[in-house]
Amino acid sequence: IGLNFGLLVAGYLLGSIPTGYLVAQGLYKIDLRQVGSGSTGATNVLRSCGKSPALFVLSVDILKGVAAIALVFWIYSLNITPQIAASANISDVNTVLYWMTTGAGLMALLGHTKPVWIGFQGGKAVATSLGILLAFNWQLGLATLGIFALFLAISRIVSLSSIAGAVGIASLMVITNQPLPYQIFGIVGGIYVILRHRSNIERLLKGTEPRIGQTLSTST
Ligand code: G3P
Repeated sequence: IGLNFGLLVAGYLLGSIPTGYLVAQGLYKIDLRQVGSGSTGATNVLRSCGKSPALFVLSVDILKGVAAIALVFWIYSLNITPQIAASANISDVNTVLYWMTTGAGLMALLGHTKPVWIGFQGGKAVATSLGILLAFNWQLGLATLGIFALFLAISRIVSLSSIAGAVGIASLMVITNQPLPYQIFGIVGGIYVILRHRSNIERLLKGTEPRIGQTLSTST
């Protein structure tokens, strides 16, 4: 039972599947990096291609996060033979799993935002973060989704809701005293998601960030 570098690479590769880019380019001949916000995430798919493709991209991007974590659990469960389970201290096993899933999760966020396949121009890691969080602790995942949904219902601005969700993840991880690696995921992942929204924050401050259904003509 040790650390597994290959699972970190697998996390990156799963995250780097450019779902939004493939759907928009493959079905609509639209390069998401050149339109709207320039992001390859579901929100930019929604404004550039429509509801159904956006829902599909959102679902797959959530599943990428779930898969990165599930893969770690699966590989480790294959390696934990009854002999190892009997001899190893169970808290040591759990500690390795917490750190490995956290590492794979952060690598999946990196893969989603910086996919090697399309010039390192990806999305903002919101959907994939949600998938990872649901795999870590589904109650916390749903609570974060609730924060996002509340802000979205009130503001109709996806980016603002995502930023609120990112602050929510970090806070909930710490407040509910999750294992240290998960708290680190919440804080590092949350800050990373917020940093990915720099151009959105500029527009929010200027009052020009579009609400759902409004257009965004510049790719800033
Ligand atoms: O999920 C990303 C969202 O928070 C913002 O996307 O395209 O409006 O920058 P976008």
